[in-house]
Amino acid sequence: MKAPSLLCVVAASLLMAASASAQTNTATLTVSADKPGPEISRMIYGHFAEHLGRCIYEGFWVGEDSKIPNTRGIRNDVVDALKKIKVPVLRWPGGCFADEYHWKDGIGPREKRPAMINTHWGGVVENNHFGTHEFFDLCEQLGTEPYVCGNVGSGTVQEMMEWVEYMTSDADSPMANLRRANGRDKAWKLKYFGVGNESWGCGGNMTPEFYADNYRRYNTFVKNYDRANPLYRIAGGANSGDYNWTEVVMKSAGRQMQGLSLHHYTVPGTWQKKGSATQFDEAEWHKTLRKTLETETLVTKHAAIMDQTDPGKKVGMIVDEWGTWFDVEPGTNPGFLYQQNSLRDALVAGISLNIFNRHADRVKMANIAQTVNVLQSMILTDKEKMLVTPTYHVFEMFTVHHDASLLPVELQCPDYQFGNDKIPSVSVSASKDKAGVIHLTLCNLNPNEAVGVSAQLAGANAGAITGRVLTPTAMNAHNTYDRPEVVKPAAFNGAKLVEGGFNATLPAKSVVVLELK
Ligand code: AHR
Repeated sequence: MKAPSLLCVVAASLLMAASASAQTNTATLTVSADKPGPEISRMIYGHFAEHLGRCIYEGFWVGEDSKIPNTRGIRNDVVDALKKIKVPVLRWPGGCFADEYHWKDGIGPREKRPAMINTHWGGVVENNHFGTHEFFDLCEQLGTEPYVCGNVGSGTVQEMMEWVEYMTSDADSPMANLRRANGRDKAWKLKYFGVGNESWGCGGNMTPEFYADNYRRYNTFVKNYDRANPLYRIAGGANSGDYNWTEVVMKSAGRQMQGLSLHHYTVPGTWQKKGSATQFDEAEWHKTLRKTLETETLVTKHAAIMDQTDPGKKVGMIVDEWGTWFDVEPGTNPGFLYQQNSLRDALVAGISLNIFNRHADRVKMANIAQTVNVLQSMILTDKEKMLVTPTYHVFEMFTVHHDASLLPVELQCPDYQFGNDKIPSVSVSASKDKAGVIHLTLCNLNPNEAVGVSAQLAGANAGAITGRVLTPTAMNAHNTYDRPEVVKPAAFNGAKLVEGGFNATLPAKSVVVLELK
């Protein structure tokens, strides 16, 4: 995105004077519909579910005897809601939990499974009632690809090797037979396997050199039992701007992986005082969105480092943890990371997904943290009650990009200024789906003013334009159990076709999806 200037805004405005939608606050946009780029992998719209707080237990798993309607212990309302956003992939069991998880504790009759202490997340007792079989059942109910993260930090090579055999071998072998004894005859289809999580921190406090060596060693014993469906191996990647980590791991082990992860959270304040999810002013709104926009720099710089040893882009960037991280809701367990989700989260999601789309040549998967009741969730639950969040709606609106071809965009837009800080007011990405339909997803970051968009569509003639918009009245608007539909998409009538393109007016603080066909 080009840095906007007063001159460019003025120039854009003068140009616009001739158009039907002349406004002072106007962005100019060119969409090259005749130059389709890489496919936007639907895996960019992936999710993450950790044994953390009330994500797995209560969020997904209520047990077969629960009064909450469930299928084999997994709650039906949550599965039904998630099916509507077409969850393509689900990462499990962590996160930090993955590096203290011993998978054999989570198989066999539930009443006989040993308990453990979840030392990372609230020190609560984990009864292991949700284990490998339950996870694959959840994925099958959702129609989603499983992504399992193995234990490097406190697990052995043998333990990891046996887990992969247990999940993916159809041979007459010890682990496959153990799986059969536990009620599952056929191996599951597992493509995505992570070798450790945050090995620079909770996963073992390793140096990149030490992790790279460990990755090479553990990965050697992660076998492709199903030769027709080899594993896509994901190495533990950097924390935000730790470019040295990416460089060292790529140089040392880049040839032995298909993906390298990156974790980046949007924290408006400090880690000690992150800020409230719902009680914030415009300064915090602006800061949060500015920090989200930094994702573009991170992705660009990590990708450039990956290009040095992998110019053919064989290794995917896997942003397998991202999203907002605020202070927990008052009165809740600090170790459970439970936070509300407002229109601001919707903007963070829209901006981030637009960035991942625009880097679809390298970003092959992303997993927002986390699906239910933890951090930037799609869904919140309270016993039998459930609601979907503003972030959920963004994921639903953006499903149009799944596996579509990225279309290049050029955007010049006015700044959204608060105090001395300026950020671009508009975020955008565009794609063309298999049927030739063009979709744009746009965010107006400015909470005070609408912004006009004057768009040129190169190489396509659209006959109709329709859209939907998410734009409640308040910056901190959010859904509650009493008022679950405060934030939800509505029809958008603010766009019209003009010669060679379209004009649109994005309402203040909005996320808009447009369809041109
Ligand atoms: O998503 C919460 C935690 O954030 C994960 O467990 C960890 O990987 C990261 O630090």
